[in-house]
Amino acid sequence: MRVVELFSGAGGMSIGFRQAGFEIVHALDAWPEAVEVYRRNVGKHAWVSDLKDIANVAPVLFGLRPDIIVGGPPCQDYSTAGRRQEGERADLTAAYAMLIAIVRPQWLLMENVPRTLKSKAWGQAEAILRNAGYGFTVAKLDAAYYGTGQTRERLIVVGRLCEDDGFLTDALVGAASSEPMTAREALGEGLGDTLYVHPRHMFKKRLWSADKPAPTVRSTYARRVPPDFVPTEKDAVGDTVTELTRDHVSALQGFPPDFDWSSCGLEDRDQMVANAVPVPLARAIASVILRRQRGETQPLLEKAFSVWLRGRGHAPSTIDDFRTKANRARRLLGGRLLADTALEIAQLEGVPEFQELPSKTQSALRVALRLHAEFRHEQRQVPLKKAAKARKTNIKKAA
Ligand SMILES: C[S@@+](CC[C@H](N)C(=O)[O-])C[C@H]1O[C@@H](n2cnc3c(N)ncnc32)[C@H](O)[C@@H]1O
Repeated sequence: MRVVELFSGAGGMSIGFRQAGFEIVHALDAWPEAVEVYRRNVGKHAWVSDLKDIANVAPVLFGLRPDIIVGGPPCQDYSTAGRRQEGERADLTAAYAMLIAIVRPQWLLMENVPRTLKSKAWGQAEAILRNAGYGFTVAKLDAAYYGTGQTRERLIVVGRLCEDDGFLTDALVGAASSEPMTAREALGEGLGDTLYVHPRHMFKKRLWSADKPAPTVRSTYARRVPPDFVPTEKDAVGDTVTELTRDHVSALQGFPPDFDWSSCGLEDRDQMVANAVPVPLARAIASVILRRQRGETQPLLEKAFSVWLRGRGHAPSTIDDFRTKANRARRLLGGRLLADTALEIAQLEGVPEFQELPSKTQSALRVALRLHAEFRHEQRQVPLKKAAKARKTNIKKAA
């Protein structure tokens, strides 16, 4: 699958996608120093470009025919670490959506801080992408459960043309490990009991247990322990302390040990590392996408589907049969969960294996898909009805 990365920085996301088996064909970023680091380490397909310049960028991307566009538009304007106002940087989220809407790759991936979901910028971007025909899986994932030795909560939006919302949720959740990765597991033996992590604010915790995930990597982390430092009750307790070095911090983000940072200054390096999508998280998400694209996975059939069928008076044996048929149809569809039922049935009818089935079985598969679509449609109405009822109650109270 061909990938274009926008806002590519030093290339954390691209490396993860490549490790999962994708081909990265193009990467763009407005920061020349980051592009130089990317070119030295990931590939010569990275270019300096201002992505607000949609008119010039879109035709180039269109010509590349990517299967997926990935990117993490800059987030400082609505991240908790930054000012809590939306500004010019947030407009880049809309620019990102517009570029995708023009190029219309089969897939998209957006990574950002969780609070993006409440931003006007994401509201705008979502509307643009929905109009372009994408359905979404929106998930908050902690990188510590995806092979990264740090707690790092990120909003992950995966979109696919014509797909129904939530199409990849269980696959993404299923790819998580049962335990978070610790800093020691990520950085290897040789660490002390605690890690000295230099905070952005003086009074924050500085000593963290090496046997837990490190805190979210930021650009300030690799500093010496100040001579006047006295631990407080917030700090983890241990006999030995390891000062995090720049190499430790890059490794916590999953950059390979031989990654060459020599073309940029230390401050730039710190910023690029802190900006990056952790390589193992990107790799895990990429693998989930690739498996679905190949039809190796399919969305799990909800337990609530059985309850819904029971509510419609179906006997347990019929319910089991509907479930088996719905799963079989979904498998024939290569794991797809299309938002439009007519399109879904038409697609099923185009599958050679389906065409060879007896017509009675074909009808049963069609019925099972229609019922599942009806169930999903009704499920979506429930929150809407609840919201409408709550609004009416509030209006009455206010009157
Ligand atoms: C969060 S970082 C992306 C990190 C990258 N995904 C990775 O994994 O390493 C955001 C990037 O957006 C870039 N950027 C900011 N404004 C831009 C613009 N107008 N056009 C293109 N890139 C821009 C920044 O230089 C920064 O590298």
